[in-house]
Amino acid sequence: MTNILVTGSGGSGGINFIRALRLAEKQRGKPMFIVSTDHNPHYLKFPDSDIRVVSPRHDDPDFTPLLLKLISKYKIDFLHPHPSSEARIVMQNLSVFAKAKVKTYLPNPDSIMPDKLTIHDMLAEAQVRVPKTVSVTSFEDVERAFSELGKPLWIRARRGAGGRLGLKVNNVEEAKHWVELNRLQGRAAVADFLVQEYLPGRDLAFDSLWYKGKLVTSYCRERLEYFLKHISLSGITGTPTIARTLIDEKVTRIGVDAVKALDPQPNGFFSTDIKEDAEGNCVVTEVDGKWHTTAPLWGYAFAKALGKPELNLTSQYLTLALEEKTDAELPNFDLFPAGYYLVRQLDAGVILENEDKTWQIV
Ligand SMILES: Nc1ncnc2c1ncn2[C@@H]1O[C@H](COP(=O)(O)OP(=O)(O)O)[C@@H](O)[C@H]1O
Ligand SMILES: [Mg+2]
Repeated sequence: MTNILVTGSGGSGGINFIRALRLAEKQRGKPMFIVSTDHNPHYLKFPDSDIRVVSPRHDDPDFTPLLLKLISKYKIDFLHPHPSSEARIVMQNLSVFAKAKVKTYLPNPDSIMPDKLTIHDMLAEAQVRVPKTVSVTSFEDVERAFSELGKPLWIRARRGAGGRLGLKVNNVEEAKHWVELNRLQGRAAVADFLVQEYLPGRDLAFDSLWYKGKLVTSYCRERLEYFLKHISLSGITGTPTIARTLIDEKVTRIGVDAVKALDPQPNGFFSTDIKEDAEGNCVVTEVDGKWHTTAPLWGYAFAKALGKPELNLTSQYLTLALEEKTDAELPNFDLFPAGYYLVRQLDAGVILENEDKTWQIV
């Protein structure tokens, strides 16, 4: 029996992660005892875990003590904090978790949730293509961005995820109004914004698993449509309702380069977001030592639909953490075949499909 603690398990990512563990339990015959936490008592009902415990938020002083208590009480072998905010706290306190003899498999804390300007600067330094960027400290910088970068532009918050405060802006007036409205309503200060070159091309993602500096496996996909895009100003709502796998060497190459530029010794799961410019060049908008929400779901879907347990990324991640190896030979690139669509809809489950066939996954 392997005892596992998954924190932040009530969000879609955590639910997907635990669902994938349960599939591995069935397909690989590996019994697991899963304890899960979330600060939302309602969402905590969703994950398929054995024990559910409401936790404080990651920045509450009681967060780490609660995890230590659960680790001791349930003899936890492996701790997986799913959301970046919780993963970062665990890595910042790694010595206390190491003392509790619980295993983790995470990047160094600087590689988790870096701010967008830091990402820009580190990647530019390593000559990985990033959007031309002006960091905003005053309204004059917004004007300067339009004279230096042209138009339209993409304005965004330096910190946060899910496309936070992102918007395509066509001129100085729109951009200034956006900053001012968000300042007035207390969401952000003027200096929290970046203005970037607007990238109109494909919306791509490169997901990769690394172990002690070495690439284990990876895959590429394209996001085709976001949830509820019609009621969002930017059309970006954090996670796609429709996405498809693809195989494209140039996406893979820049995805790998971006991870290495962020972290020379990557360890754990890394997500890279790539957008194409008008000429079809790949440009990295984000790289982060976290799981994209759907990464465990893609692995789950392929393992289940094709009857190939080795494609279950979450299961391979656990095996690496506990046994320092995967349980099958995995390709470094293109783990999943191209042309498969993952379709998710609120209250409707999940479908995997290609030209020939449709599988009801969830
Ligand atoms: N410069 C840009 N031009 C156009 N779209 C962008 C730009 N930067 C980000 N986006 C869109 O916003 C999404 C979210 O941005 P991303 O860089 O991944 O940060 P986060 O996911 O942390 O909000 C991207 O996947 C992309 O679709
Ligand atoms: Mg992103």
